[in-house]
Amino acid sequence: MTRIRKAVFPVAGLGTRFLPATKSVPKEMLPLLDRPLIQYAVDEARAAGIEEFIFITSAGKSALEDYFDTAAALEMRLERAGKTEALAALGRTRMPAGTLSFIRQDRPKGLGHAVSLARRLVGDEPFAVLLPDDVIRAPRPALAQMVDAYEHNRGHMVATMTVPRAKTASYGVLDVLSENGRIAKVRGLVEKPDPGKAPSAKAVIGRYILEPSIFDKLDMITPGSGGELQLTDAINADLSTAGVSGYRFSGERFDCGSIQGLIQATVAFGLDRPDLCEEFDKFVHQRFFPWRSIA
Ligand code: G1P
Repeated sequence: MTRIRKAVFPVAGLGTRFLPATKSVPKEMLPLLDRPLIQYAVDEARAAGIEEFIFITSAGKSALEDYFDTAAALEMRLERAGKTEALAALGRTRMPAGTLSFIRQDRPKGLGHAVSLARRLVGDEPFAVLLPDDVIRAPRPALAQMVDAYEHNRGHMVATMTVPRAKTASYGVLDVLSENGRIAKVRGLVEKPDPGKAPSAKAVIGRYILEPSIFDKLDMITPGSGGELQLTDAINADLSTAGVSGYRFSGERFDCGSIQGLIQATVAFGLDRPDLCEEFDKFVHQRFFPWRSIA
């Protein structure tokens, strides 16, 4: 049994869709309820058994590193004030010492380039990649579902879901050979194809399990969609050697790299929270269904 122990979090993106907020706050630090987006990705990785967390950052992202630091002074103040709930919230963000690494991407050369920078830290073992923009609300965390499936499906594995055909130009898209339950055998991947040219409407969502052979391919690819080095292209280049499958995860995905997606995620996660749902539900009903009275 090969364990997936390491995960790469590409967090170097600019977050232009959230300007001006992202002028001084990394987009991965934007809150979904009371947790920043990065915390959802890290929690999902932890739930899948990940023990080493590799962040690919860029200039202006130091808030991310600070977030995972111990806040000794703050903890002491909370302790003195008897704020046990706030202390517990901080405790949930604590990571075992020495498990986090940060690598700087000096220029925005694309997701493929970002992942390639993790080569030395990942070494010669399969690893996970999580894009924190994609938040997945699922009964069993999406990466854990994939780790289970990987046991019987070696090779590169990408999370997938069907999107409206008109939206294929926002995603990596799969050319599917055959499907068996949640697993699709893939015979090609294209990054951001126009709807007319897309081989299907099965999109890649930001969860990957990759074989270490991806690093040689990442070194070989040339700039693709958007003039950037694309992870999709490297996976496609390794198709005949390593094999690629798509995993149709169970769960609901929100594109929290967009305002629309973050609003929708806020509603969905807000209604899930026992401490928030009652008042929030009332607000939503009064707002959208004013003709229905709630006691
Ligand atoms: C990235 C990947 C793309 C994938 C998408 C999922 O694109 O390049 O293949 O479908 O994430 O969110 P981005 O959204 O960073 O442009």
